Amino acid sequence: MEEAMVAGGAERLRVVTIDGPSGVGKSTVSRKVAAALGWTYLDTGAMYRAVGVQCRKEGISLEDAAALAALLARLDIRLLPPLHESDDVRVMANGEDISAAVRSPEAGMMASQVSALPAVRAKLTALQQAMGRAGEIVAEGRDTGTVVFPAAAWKFYLDAPPEERCRRRVGQLRAKGQAVPDEAAILAQIIERDRNDRERTIAPLRMAADAVLIDASNMTADEVAARMLAVVRQAS
Ligand code: DC
Repeated sequence: MEEAMVAGGAERLRVVTIDGPSGVGKSTVSRKVAAALGWTYLDTGAMYRAVGVQCRKEGISLEDAAALAALLARLDIRLLPPLHESDDVRVMANGEDISAAVRSPEAGMMASQVSALPAVRAKLTALQQAMGRAGEIVAEGRDTGTVVFPAAAWKFYLDAPPEERCRRRVGQLRAKGQAVPDEAAILAQIIERDRNDRERTIAPLRMAADAVLIDASNMTADEVAARMLAVVRQAS
């Protein structure tokens, strides 16, 4: 197969996966790695955020399985390249640009909730696998190395303690000119999302057995990306 390579005797997809908890810097690093390789960046979290935003917009309760199934059946999610290199991917839902809405903290919490639902995971996992079938993808999320692309050739798990992730998040918000009166609330939200993402039954956040662990605490995004690229290039 053209899209596969052979590593350790098993056929491996030319895919890089980058998993880890919220706020650890996965998106920035994934964009840098994808740009350096000339591959496509697949932001799987944006897809869960899109489902959360649409549920809220249509007033669908997450307990209403039939309404949720109907929403999923008619939901067409597309990810488009950002207009500027350092921006997030653009997200279209049923032809409407919901890029701004998906990036709010509320959308992150909604995403964390809908992502525990089997019907949502089934639909989005299948979509992501279709997007990665041809290879040359840098996929970022919580389960890209464990569930979506278990045969990926290069897997990374990026980690940092919640307090460090909170510090970075507050710094980002302040850099955008936003006041952050309640840092404790941000830390509490990070800890709650960690718990949701790690304790759900299907596809919980965990490190794949064959992933490379990188502690991002004392590293810049450029340093993390450089370390990943060294691993990818060494084994290409
Ligand atoms: O990476 P993010 O903050 O955009 O992700 C938002 C939420 O989506 C996250 O709290 C959990 C969920 N998610 C997931 O369950 N599986 C993924 N592969 C990506 C995100």
